Amino acid sequence: MMHLINKRVLLGVTGGIAAYKSAEIVRRLQDAGADVRVVMTKGAQEFITALTMQALSGNPVHTDLLDPQAEAAMGHIELSRWADVVLVAPASANFMSKLATGDGSDLLSTVCLATQSKIVLAPAMNQGMWRNASTQENLKTLLERDIKILGPASGGQACGDVGPGRMLEPDDIATQVASLFEQDAFAGLKVVITAGPTREAIDPVRYISNHSSGKMGYAIAEAAAEAGAKTVLVSGPVQLSCPARVDRQDVVSALQMYEAVSKEISDADIFIGAAAVADFRPVEEASEKIKKGASDTMTLNMTKNPDIIAMVAQREDKPFTVGFAAETQNVLEYGRKKLEAKKLDMVIANDVSDQSIGFNSDDNAVTLIDKEANENLSVRSKSQLARDIIQVIAKKYKSKYHA
Ligand code: C5P
Repeated sequence: MMHLINKRVLLGVTGGIAAYKSAEIVRRLQDAGADVRVVMTKGAQEFITALTMQALSGNPVHTDLLDPQAEAAMGHIELSRWADVVLVAPASANFMSKLATGDGSDLLSTVCLATQSKIVLAPAMNQGMWRNASTQENLKTLLERDIKILGPASGGQACGDVGPGRMLEPDDIATQVASLFEQDAFAGLKVVITAGPTREAIDPVRYISNHSSGKMGYAIAEAAAEAGAKTVLVSGPVQLSCPARVDRQDVVSALQMYEAVSKEISDADIFIGAAAVADFRPVEEASEKIKKGASDTMTLNMTKNPDIIAMVAQREDKPFTVGFAAETQNVLEYGRKKLEAKKLDMVIANDVSDQSIGFNSDDNAVTLIDKEANENLSVRSKSQLARDIIQVIAKKYKSKYHA
């Protein structure tokens, strides 16, 4: 099964009769979960219309380098940054020559010059053009520069010749593009993450909450998406914007968070509970603002909130379940107890008594606890820590399910 979930593929189409197959390539890439944008050369537009590619990709097609309007929307530099991979299919002999010499005379060639991402070519041309010494020389140069070449296949050609130069089939091209990302730690997995605090309403204007900023959970969601996961982030109220490629679902209270997680969990492979869920909520939310009254004291009747992560870990089809333990003392001991009591696969323990890390800061240090051992991740930025945590979770997940 190939996966391109969360991956952005920039499909470059150059002039050649195989361009009609590019429409099918868009479909195959999308079937695998990719977001596809198309850049067409002038030559390509003689063989297949931009309208067709636009309708299939669901995005405007990019054709001009020097069109101020197009550049203002998403110019060659943005396109080159946007792409996780640039796939040129079909790649003509002319385009291979341009790429080999560093030509930047049109949009597609400038995108290829500017991008830091992998470039993949699926050449398609007449067998004589493919065998030509110049093309072969260009091919050698491109391979030396780590550009990936798919095919070409041999066989009957549109011009009647028989020989090498046929573009590979769309299915094969999409599979080979997906294989570039196979090593991604979370390729093909669905991850559900909770983050932020919850708010438990007392009356229409007051609530009980905590200091959670959501930063750690958001960093983990970003790292999970980067690692190829379909990522759902169930978030309490925070001042953070949604990371790219993450499906964020906003909730306010613990009960709402519980509902949102329940809906998403049945097909999840991994659950990470990074939210600081309020343990209790007022038994009743007053329908009107509570008045001060004459008394110097006020009593709130509270009831326990459902434990979201424990609910997840109790399921028969339980995903790999990771909880947080924010403690002010005996961090490792309490963390391990939590692992056992809630039947978690891993606990990420951190010491919130240390002001320089934890709740509102940008840095954090944690200990990853599972049934075998403790693993220390010393102080680093929350985003770096999140990436490191994801790598450890991926390793443990794989050894649990694919041992
Ligand atoms: O029991 P404690 O609140 O210390 O456990 C923390 C872990 O449990 C965190 O992963 C947190 O997201 C999760 N949790 C939860 N639902 C609750 C309370 C905590 O999912 N009601």
